[in-house]
Amino acid sequence: MQKILVTGGLGFIGSHTVVELQNEGYEVVIIDDLSNSSIDVLDKITSITGRLPEFENIDLKDQSAIQSFFKKHKNIDGIIHFAASKAVGESVEEPLKYYHNNISTLIYLLEEMSINNVSNFIFSSSCTVYGQADKMPITESAPFKPAESPYGNTKQIGEEVIYDTTKVTNLKAIALRYFNPIGAHKSANIGELPIGIPQNLIPYVTQTAMGIREQLSVFGGDYPTPDGTAVRDYIHVVDLAKAHIAALRRLIENNNKSNFEVFNIGTGKGSSVLNVIKAFEKVSGKQLNYKIVDRREGDIIEAYADTSLANTELKWKTEYNLEDALAAAWKWQQTLK
Ligand code: UD1
Repeated sequence: MQKILVTGGLGFIGSHTVVELQNEGYEVVIIDDLSNSSIDVLDKITSITGRLPEFENIDLKDQSAIQSFFKKHKNIDGIIHFAASKAVGESVEEPLKYYHNNISTLIYLLEEMSINNVSNFIFSSSCTVYGQADKMPITESAPFKPAESPYGNTKQIGEEVIYDTTKVTNLKAIALRYFNPIGAHKSANIGELPIGIPQNLIPYVTQTAMGIREQLSVFGGDYPTPDGTAVRDYIHVVDLAKAHIAALRRLIENNNKSNFEVFNIGTGKGSSVLNVIKAFEKVSGKQLNYKIVDRREGDIIEAYADTSLANTELKWKTEYNLEDALAAAWKWQQTLK
């Protein structure tokens, strides 16, 4: 059985990926420092798959702890690296925290991979590297735009650090550029757990429908889009999780075409904020209290993926649409209350 290290494996995307890895027969060891996740997720994963993943409570900023980890776990076949900080606003307030959490830890991991001869690496990147792309849908060859935030910058720098490392070590890496991950597992055992007031659209929508928030603010009604609200590519987290399995398999089976590859992971379909609200109202049967307000600083107009490279090379495609993902998010929210 192949053994995969999943860093940040108790987080939103990480936990769904652990489930899919176990479903595919991989043995999983999770590293998580619980800074933005709960230990309860371990039991939730186990209740879905029937198998308890190994778990190590390690802060990846602790280099000696990573060294000890690799001494203890000798047989790692691949690493999926989710562990990172992801709040855009916070990254502007605390840039060094972000560079340390997202870049120092990446460097430590890559160093230990080289020392311990672990070569297969999947990196969580983001469509944020494209900024406001000039053409839709966005292909992988669209250039990086100046990052809007330290968080966004860590994704650009992270990709560059990995790419440079692949040139001089036996590292083989795939960066997956996620569009907007939403939804939850159909069991409603795992999902997104935002701390405090949600910054992202879908948790704000579901909390408003629950009555936890009074009103959803729609940021901007005057964008040059069909209905004036901003357009994104919302992908079901289970589809996204499965893309990691496909990417990992590509590396393990040596089907990669170069030692550093990038793939867009989205649905290929753009949805406006108002499209999301309508779809949510349909699947939940609830009317959402919302109001169009000013644009949010730093937001782009539109971003949706050209997924053809991932479809052909990874032999992966999405199975769920926006309504499926919103229904799953709503079911999950109701379990949280
Ligand atoms: C945000 C981050 C992005 C990050 C991604 C991770 C910003 C500016 N960008 O992307 O870097 O990679 O999350 O998931 O924070 N919206 C509302 N009302 C709300 C919340 C959001 O109208 O209360 C709108 C936004 O203006 C946007 C859309 O909904 O048009 C999606 O927003 P969000 O879920 O925050 O994702 P992004 O901004 O695309």
